[in-house]
Amino acid sequence: MADANGMRIFAVANQKGGVGKTTTTTSLGAALAEAGKRVLIVDLDPQGNATTGLGVDSHRFERSVYDVLLNDIPMVDIVEPTGFPNLFVAPATLDLAGVEQELTTVISRELRLKRALDSVEGDFDYIFIDCPPSLGLITINAFAAATDIMVPVQTEFYALEGLTQLRNIIELVRRNINPTLHISKVVLTMYDSRNTLAQDVAIEVRRHFPEELCNTKIPRTVRLAEAPSHGQPITTFDPTSRGAKAYRALAQEIMNG
Ligand SMILES: Nc1ncnc2c1ncn2[C@@H]1O[C@H](COP(=O)(O)OP(=O)(O)O)[C@@H](O)[C@H]1O
Ligand SMILES: [Mg+2]
Repeated sequence: MADANGMRIFAVANQKGGVGKTTTTTSLGAALAEAGKRVLIVDLDPQGNATTGLGVDSHRFERSVYDVLLNDIPMVDIVEPTGFPNLFVAPATLDLAGVEQELTTVISRELRLKRALDSVEGDFDYIFIDCPPSLGLITINAFAAATDIMVPVQTEFYALEGLTQLRNIIELVRRNINPTLHISKVVLTMYDSRNTLAQDVAIEVRRHFPEELCNTKIPRTVRLAEAPSHGQPITTFDPTSRGAKAYRALAQEIMNG
């Protein structure tokens, strides 16, 4: 569900690391930007991979999402353009790693991000929040601010492991803070169609998420892994690659609702 201005805010979350959260955030965001949508990527992972992967050097900035979460800095003050039209980033820096601890004593600690986002209300069509691989206060801030949750699921044997715990946290946030919060989209990543296990996993994920599972499966391709080290999203790094095409198809699904 979109907010009052039609802006959709996706928390891209899965507490497992390495499942394709950051790749999906930057690639899908770039594909939507390429389609003419105004997109903001909020980098909530202290690793800052979404920031650097889009060619933005976070060392250049005095302020980052850290200050948004802890020092009441409005989001609009830290938003930076990327080198790509329509695509903006709210950069993360390593000091974000301490936020989880520091937030515990702060008033309205779950709502810091939501309030900060008021300052960009109406400026973007889509906001994608790249969550860290944990279900702590940073991720809860993302869930409190989100209109939607997107869960990238790596197509492997343990794909569904941990999703019950994820659903429990979502349910807690839904009941206490954000009444319309739900998993809107589940997307299979690193899919290898030649692998029969991958096909079985896809069937199993669809059984659990019949409505939520996206038709587009993101293939496993080395080009997707190479793009961030060039500071580019896949859509410009290798515009005709399978990965770029897949994320464009996913963007189309998102735009269709
Ligand atoms: N579809 C894919 N094909 C090949 N490699 C991928 C794909 N998606 C992600 N990767 C690589 O896998 C690793 C983990 O992906 P990443 O998006 O950083 O996951 P997360 O943000 O969930 O930790 C990265 O090295 C990334 O480049
Ligand atoms: Mg990541």
